[in-house]
Amino acid sequence: MMTLTTPPAAAPTRAEPPFLLWLTGLSGAGKSTIAGRLLPLLAAQGRRPILLDGDHLREGLCADLGFSEADRRENIRRAAEVALLMVGAGLTVVATFISPFRRDRDNARARMTTGRFVEVFIDTPLAVAEERDPKGLYRRARAGQIPHFTGISSPYEAPVQPEIRIDTTRLSPERAAEHVVASLREMGLLPPAR
Ligand code: ADX
Repeated sequence: MMTLTTPPAAAPTRAEPPFLLWLTGLSGAGKSTIAGRLLPLLAAQGRRPILLDGDHLREGLCADLGFSEADRRENIRRAAEVALLMVGAGLTVVATFISPFRRDRDNARARMTTGRFVEVFIDTPLAVAEERDPKGLYRRARAGQIPHFTGISSPYEAPVQPEIRIDTTRLSPERAAEHVVASLREMGLLPPAR
């Protein structure tokens, strides 16, 4: 007779709730750069971090979307649903989207368990982002070659009460990532430093 056995569940070592870090800010604010510094720090904390990046999603899942308000809303809705699935699978998600509209970020927050959505405002003044212009997009937007460009011809609604605010005019990407980790410790989402 065949017997069915269930493998024993791995014993949880300690409560480590996965969460979603939602980095919002202008194009060129530094979201992806800071996320790149953050991922290894989260991994060093025993997390399984994953990056969910606007530029990447727009190459595939969201390739049918442009930059009208309706399309951005749909972009953020899809991103939040993917993030939700990833968090459900135990991953700690670092999402990097301009996500210019407050209500869309609030909708993403509402999809998550309370306390597991951490809004991180990558606060870079428009003038600074435009000066950096890493992809040359601001120059093209000013020349009228890119319609609905955030900060130029489309609005950016800054977070009112983000869990974490990063002033990139004062912090390097490395220090910004460390600040996020320290804030997560204070929030109880990462264990205290030893
Ligand atoms: S969002 O507004 O829908 O959240 P998302 O983060 O996915 O935007 O994509 C932003 C990236 O798309 C920018 O970093 C930039 O490289 C590119 N992009 C192309 N057109 C625009 C535009 N009109 N406004 C802002 N970003 C644009």
